[in-house]
Amino acid sequence: MDWRAVGRQYSRPSQCPFALTRSRSTKSVDQSIFDFVRENGRTYHRYQAGLYPFPNDQYEILKVLFKGCNFFAPLKDPRKILDIGTGSGKWAIEMGNYFPKAEVTGTDLSPIQPEWVPNNVKFVIDDANEEDWMLDPLDFIHTRLLLGCFEDFREVIKTSFRHLKPGGWMESQEIMPTVYCDDGTMAADWPYAEWVRTQDQAAMNVGKPMRIANKLKRWYEQAGFVDVHEEVFKLPINSWPKDPQFKMLGRFNETCYLDGLQAWSLQLFTRGLSWTKDEIEVYLVHVRKSLSDRSVHAYNKIYVVWGRKPREGEITVPKEPTWAPPAPPPVDEIVPGANIPETIPDDPTTEAETTERGTNDAL
Ligand SMILES: C[S@@+](CC[C@H](N)C(=O)[O-])C[C@H]1O[C@@H](n2cnc3c(N)ncnc32)[C@H](O)[C@@H]1O
Repeated sequence: MDWRAVGRQYSRPSQCPFALTRSRSTKSVDQSIFDFVRENGRTYHRYQAGLYPFPNDQYEILKVLFKGCNFFAPLKDPRKILDIGTGSGKWAIEMGNYFPKAEVTGTDLSPIQPEWVPNNVKFVIDDANEEDWMLDPLDFIHTRLLLGCFEDFREVIKTSFRHLKPGGWMESQEIMPTVYCDDGTMAADWPYAEWVRTQDQAAMNVGKPMRIANKLKRWYEQAGFVDVHEEVFKLPINSWPKDPQFKMLGRFNETCYLDGLQAWSLQLFTRGLSWTKDEIEVYLVHVRKSLSDRSVHAYNKIYVVWGRKPREGEITVPKEPTWAPPAPPPVDEIVPGANIPETIPDDPTTEAETTERGTNDAL
């Protein structure tokens, strides 16, 4: 497979116009990032008293996939930057160092950010579902890996649009949990793919959809953003690729998934599907085994989308939604806690809308 055919690719970090690590070789950057994670042990983000565990490694994997880029929007001397759902706050801290004249704010529901940060970086406990974020107008708003966190991510995009200065940028970096394979090595009942479908159902049952990545571009445009770009990257599930860089990324991805599987399943399958802990443990035995099967050439897609709020006086044509939202149930049918509606129905046309390239390349 020609991995270079997908997304914006830079053969060296120094070629990436916005790379935050410019002076070292790809290999040493990649390795040092993962060594750092290893030395400090794996920690998990915790959202609302333990409901949102997420291994930190995944953020490092994305950074390597993007050749050290922390953002793709064409920023010019931004002064006010916001990172919604900042988690460990690493992105915000790196941006504070990269743009010393900017004021970077990271918001999250959980106070898990470090205390010692650059002077121009601050963290605020804040729920992005709130209508008003009580912030000055912003130059750049960033979100990363917020799948499964919101009932309707379009609201976050709309609120971001309101809080940006004219000409300001928003960018989202998301993983699409769906598993893809181009060469027929993945059977329809491959246990990991089946786990992803189960997780998806559980997430829909609790009303927080996972598959937001491939809809972001459309949602940005519907919110009023212009100059909207989408780049799609492939991330192998395990170390099956021949390409050494992607083999390494796959190896770390596999470890990350193996480590996260139990926590993700316990969290969602108990709440969303009413499974017991024992049922989940038995189910995961086959899923774990399949994750490490290198004869299956499976991968995820990572979407990066960025768009600009129109400048004052710039004429734009608003785009209307192409699908009809579901009709609300009659009031007497609403039972608290039951029949949670799928707030974002999946749209089968979205796959065709992406600008993804190279999915049928030979290995
Ligand atoms: C998977 S983590 C991503 C962390 C970070 N964006 C990164 O890439 O390093 C998701 C984060 O979103 C936060 N979050 C979830 N719902 C939120 C909300 N309504 N408002 C603010 N943060 C939220 C969680 O607490 C968690 O830290």
